[in-house]
Amino acid sequence: MLSRLTARIAFVIAIGLLLVCAILVYSTVLNLAESERLVTHTHQVQEFLGETESAIASAARARLSYVLSGDDAALEQYQRYVAHIPVVLNNLRQGTTDNSKQQKHCDQLEALVNDRIQLWEKSVALKRSGLSTPDGQPDMTRQSVVVADEIVSVTDAMRREEAKLLEQRTTALHVHFVFLIFILSITFIAAVMLLLWHYRLLRDELHARERAQKIAAGAANAAVEAERKAHASESAALASQNAARRLSARLLQLRDDERRKFSRELHDSIGQYLAAAKMTLQSLANGHESDRRFSECVNLLDQSIRETRTISHLLHPSGLDEIGFSAAATSYAEGFAQRSGLQLDFKISEPTKRLPRETEIALFRVLQESLTNIHRHAKSTSAELIFETAPKNVVLTVRDKGIGIPKDVLDRFRSSGTSGVGLAGMRERIRELGGTFEVESGGEGTCVRVIVPLTEGQAFAADPG
Ligand SMILES: Nc1ncnc2c1ncn2[C@@H]1O[C@H](COP(=O)(O)OP(=O)(O)OP(=O)(O)O)[C@@H](O)[C@H]1O
Ligand SMILES: [Mg+2]
Repeated sequence: MLSRLTARIAFVIAIGLLLVCAILVYSTVLNLAESERLVTHTHQVQEFLGETESAIASAARARLSYVLSGDDAALEQYQRYVAHIPVVLNNLRQGTTDNSKQQKHCDQLEALVNDRIQLWEKSVALKRSGLSTPDGQPDMTRQSVVVADEIVSVTDAMRREEAKLLEQRTTALHVHFVFLIFILSITFIAAVMLLLWHYRLLRDELHARERAQKIAAGAANAAVEAERKAHASESAALASQNAARRLSARLLQLRDDERRKFSRELHDSIGQYLAAAKMTLQSLANGHESDRRFSECVNLLDQSIRETRTISHLLHPSGLDEIGFSAAATSYAEGFAQRSGLQLDFKISEPTKRLPRETEIALFRVLQESLTNIHRHAKSTSAELIFETAPKNVVLTVRDKGIGIPKDVLDRFRSSGTSGVGLAGMRERIRELGGTFEVESGGEGTCVRVIVPLTEGQAFAADPG
């Protein structure tokens, strides 16, 4: 900002200086030309003066020659010179119109020259008349010499005047010339100094710009580096998120496998042993009907068999692998309603083909967890269960009319924080299948809805059995 102002001031000063110098140079050149013209003019006046003197002297000599020789050629020459005298006198007068002093000298000179010409004319007329006496011509010559002296004194005065003027004008010419040289030198020096000043300003500006460019490049590099690091950390976060998701999916799968294994073990070993023990006990009890301990043992065994079956069923719903999701869900819902006393309306569609095994397990776990949550938390006496199939997806909706999920728990769950394992586990299972998991909850109850897409290969891929 400051350097821009300085540059502007420098420019204005440069322009102002150049303008002043140009005006000075112009007026000095005009004065110089005028002085030169005046010097030339003075030389010209001096020339006119010389011509006048020369014409008068020539005419005087021609007159004397004619008076002495009587030669007509000399007379003719005399007349020519005399005729020329007014011309040169007029030139002299014209050349000195700007000088009143010289004009007065011109008047004197003209009067004296006229007097002298009259004397010459008388002398010539006397000669031509042939009446010339030895005394007449010398007398006129004497008078002419007197007038000639006066003419000389006037022309001398005029010459001195012109010499004085010439000196003045030559001095003025010299002064103007020196002044012009001085102005040109000053202009040159000022131009050089301004150029240097501008060069310094330009150099400073360039340095400042280079520095700013370097800083900007550094900042840009830092920004690129920061962006790269942000990308890297973003990728790392995404990778660790994916890894965590894969791990939890794997854990859920392992838990399902474990549950299935335990369920089979319970059903096939302990359940079978208990059933065998009951049969053996019943056969032992034959004939001991009066002994109540046998019937109590049989009842205990019956209870154990039922509990074992229930636990086995909860760990892995019996028949899910064999009869498919819809039938297993219907059977589970009926059993749940019976056991919990919940009034459960359910509408479960039967798909035309079996769903993929992972989809069936996920849907069944969502069904189980949602009903368990209603039973444990909702304080609702009724619930609704809907399973619909569409060509490209399946939708499971479980709705209750209970107290709703507490707002802080719901917010924590939605902002990816943890609440319990149940809701988060359901969401994880459905995400793993590329589906969507939605929870809406408020004072009027809670609605859990999952939508699982079916790709071409997946959709109803397996036949039941
Ligand atoms: N249908 C519902 N009605 C009211 N509150 C519910 C309902 N479902 C869940 N909640 C609330 O949301 C919380 C989290 O549920 P989530 O199933 O994740 O965990 P949990 O049931 O407490 O424990 P678990 O991990 O054994 O399932 C519950 O503690 C409960 O307060
Ligand atoms: Mg739960």
